[in-house]
Amino acid sequence: MTLNADRKRIERLRREIENHNYRYYVLDDPQISDAQYDRLMRELIALERAHPELVTPDSPTQRVGAKPLTEFGTVEHAVPMLSIENALEEGELRKWVGRTYKALETQKVDFALEPKLDGLAVSLIYRDGVLVTGATRGDGAVGEDVTENLRTVRNIPLRLRSEKAQVPPLFEARGEVVISKPDFAKLNAARLEKGEEPFANPRNAAAGSIRQLDPRVTAGRPLSMFVYGVGVVEGAEFASHSESLDFAESLGLRVVPQRAVVADASGVVEWYKKILAKRDGFFVEMDGLVVKVNDLAMQRRLGVRSRSSRCVIAWKFPAHEETTVVEGVEWSVGRTGAITPVAALRPVHIGGVTVSSATLHNADEIKRLDVRVGDTVVVQRAGDVIPKIVKVVKSLRTGGETVPEPPRVCPVCGSKVVCGEDEVAIRCQNVACPAQIKGNIAHFASKAAMDIDGLGGKIIEQLYAKKMIADPGDLYSLRGGEVAKLERMAEKSAANLIAVVKTSKERGFAHVLYALGIRNVGEHVARLLAENFADIDAIRTAAPEDFIEIDGIGPVVAEAIGSFFGNARNVEFVEKLRRAGVRLERGEAEVVAGRGALAGMSFVFTGSLGRMTRDEAKNMARERGARVSNSVSAATDYVVAGEKAGSKLARAEKLGVKIIGEEEFIGMCDLDKRS
Ligand code: IVH
Repeated sequence: MTLNADRKRIERLRREIENHNYRYYVLDDPQISDAQYDRLMRELIALERAHPELVTPDSPTQRVGAKPLTEFGTVEHAVPMLSIENALEEGELRKWVGRTYKALETQKVDFALEPKLDGLAVSLIYRDGVLVTGATRGDGAVGEDVTENLRTVRNIPLRLRSEKAQVPPLFEARGEVVISKPDFAKLNAARLEKGEEPFANPRNAAAGSIRQLDPRVTAGRPLSMFVYGVGVVEGAEFASHSESLDFAESLGLRVVPQRAVVADASGVVEWYKKILAKRDGFFVEMDGLVVKVNDLAMQRRLGVRSRSSRCVIAWKFPAHEETTVVEGVEWSVGRTGAITPVAALRPVHIGGVTVSSATLHNADEIKRLDVRVGDTVVVQRAGDVIPKIVKVVKSLRTGGETVPEPPRVCPVCGSKVVCGEDEVAIRCQNVACPAQIKGNIAHFASKAAMDIDGLGGKIIEQLYAKKMIADPGDLYSLRGGEVAKLERMAEKSAANLIAVVKTSKERGFAHVLYALGIRNVGEHVARLLAENFADIDAIRTAAPEDFIEIDGIGPVVAEAIGSFFGNARNVEFVEKLRRAGVRLERGEAEVVAGRGALAGMSFVFTGSLGRMTRDEAKNMARERGARVSNSVSAATDYVVAGEKAGSKLARAEKLGVKIIGEEEFIGMCDLDKRS
């Protein structure tokens, strides 16, 4: 191709890629697959490599180009980045509203509302639409120059979009760089896997990522930016704050979600409650509601008080994090015998509940946190997640703290504790340990298992202590009269419990399999087993290969099932259930083959598909009632072969199994939609 044609193609590719970036990262509405996107990007990279003179800083290939720095430069903010005053309760917010009315000598004031996102404040300067500077807030007057790092943030446009608005010669967008909760969880899981320190919370992770000297490190972090304000601007004017954010949005920037404009304090209160209720399920951490006087002329009249702006207040949400003291470490024995440390905490209110203990997971976690009895610690509670200690405030140590030691014998039954070779957990291996037995009974009765409502810890405790039950199978021979004599029980509640126990005999096979408490057999695996085996005897007598063949079951599970049935006590337990009349076989309704367009068919997927990933295809098949297996056998109905299909395809040909392509598979699935 000629230079001219290449130049045209490069420009076109850049526009297209930027468009897809915008749709993906700003609008959350991608139009093409990742593979198609990669193809465009690869083509652009190749063309730019052939013509280095055509590379421009705003090319999408230039997000991660810069070399590591030795230190950050500084950036003076043209308009100071002020801090916000906080209100902790409704009264304080109403007082602020009152003061605002007084200062403005009117009660006709609109308030713009936004969530207060918990990340790191940054400023982006665009000259003639091109991102030239990105800085942290710093001390408000001078920040750090983190331009190269901010360029790697995918939802920050390197060039502003011009189709909806006239791009001004100078435009400064301010906002928060954050890591979403799901991305944070993935990031920490990956770090733990690599033996790296996990981050304490998304805010630390975001802030740490922006302050990396090597932009390639930042590029690997799942950051996004949400604009909440406009700084210096030349060539555009706005009457209100909300209008300025609408303008930023029209330039292709991602602005804070969940915005509103209200006319009075009651409107603020209402919106606060609404956002607070969404907090736990929201995709990013937010720690309050920011309330801003919307009219910019009014904002100017209000001006600045010391270092915070008088026209803004942050009404904080109840904290999810508090500090308290570790008063002791207890070792609790679970149903599998795993002994886990639990920190006993001085009771503290976090986000509306009293927290007095936090799990420490295992001895390694104690070492990692370096937590000692007597330490002051930061405790976090997010949603209904179990409280956890995120950090020790070491500066408050007095020297009197003691390191918790793992027990050498089981704290419940006194038998010797063992530590598995590659396991961080220590275990009590006495299957007759009361803690394990009671744990197993509680598991058996739990909602996802046999759903025996009313059989709580206190009742189990008494039934066990009075030798009325020795394993979950004994529940079925309990009599109402005996149960009624227990503490907290009366005739009626005892009769109810007996009735619920009886009903549980009809529980579906998958639930029963889960209830057995076989190691590594969670709800999902139990369902797979129920789908693939007609009854308990088929599972008991199956060979490890029979399990591994099922997609979603691996050797660890296969081995656990084998060892469960290899234990005479467990076999006796299952027999007890059989004698009691518990359903140990698949019922009609559980034959997945009953529903869906692919009902009863078995599929194997091989090779790479074009329109979806293999996992997506497998899920599509499962949703439509098919069974999905990893290996081809005579029982396989269809092999769906993508590109580069290998030995499975050969085996299917040999066995005469029907081979279809992706399109045909999709066609079969679509039938389902129409029916
Ligand atoms: S407005 C003059 N709006 O909160 C006030 N700030 O504690 C300018 N923040 O440094 C800030 N979400 O990093 C504003 N919707 C929002 C915000 C927000 C988070 C952060 C910002 C600021 C800090 C102050």
